[in-house]
Amino acid sequence: MGREVDLLVNYPKTKRDPKQRGEEKTPEDRAIARKFGKEFFDGERRHGYGGFSYMPRFWQPVVPTLQKHFDLKAGTKLLDVGSAKGFMLHDLNELIPGMVLRGVDISEYAIENTIESMRENVSVANAMDLPFDDSSFDVVISINTIHNLERDDCGKALQEIERVSKGKSFITVDAYRSSEEAERMRDWNLTAKTIMHVDEWKSFFDEVGYTGDYYWFIP
Ligand SMILES: C[S@@+](CC[C@H](N)C(=O)[O-])C[C@H]1O[C@@H](n2cnc3c(N)ncnc32)[C@H](O)[C@@H]1O
Repeated sequence: MGREVDLLVNYPKTKRDPKQRGEEKTPEDRAIARKFGKEFFDGERRHGYGGFSYMPRFWQPVVPTLQKHFDLKAGTKLLDVGSAKGFMLHDLNELIPGMVLRGVDISEYAIENTIESMRENVSVANAMDLPFDDSSFDVVISINTIHNLERDDCGKALQEIERVSKGKSFITVDAYRSSEEAERMRDWNLTAKTIMHVDEWKSFFDEVGYTGDYYWFIP
């Protein structure tokens, strides 16, 4: 069984007020965000990131944690599921030269606007149908992505991550541990379709046969 481990412990914390974000959202905003197009990445704040640009301060502090946990080095094959504009892949490449990096994302906009250094390493694909052979990656990582699928499809995505990895993987998903956190999550959430209590997620991992590591996104 995988381990609950916060590999994003050094990712900078945001200072947003989840309540305020909740009040600003409408069903239309959610529908626009869920297209994962330009509006989600580089449109208005109520539709997503409100501008998604490369900043080394986000992923660079995380890379050493990933490196230590997964023994990443030149030659290690790593897949990022939900790679967005490839910023995590770029920083992995900068700090651990020689890794074999691939990324997939459902967003054509994100793939077309992937950071120059990673353009050749990424392609459009759905997490529930990964275009790779069995056991083709040493490590598969998916940050805040698979919860954007409905529960059954999210299960398929977990099985796909399991299938293409040689056994090492790490995902983060929207979750809560208390009713207060559940309410905060409801206010904060823009795109996720599967949000569960942490214990429900763990049972779900068991049910679908996901054996990789995991942690939670809790606003
Ligand atoms: C919250 S963003 C996270 C991006 C990146 N992993 C990060 O942590 O900065 C979610 C990403 O998942 C992608 N995505 C959503 N549904 C997906 C799916 N079914 N398959 C692959 N990517 C998906 C979106 O386009 C978006 O880039």
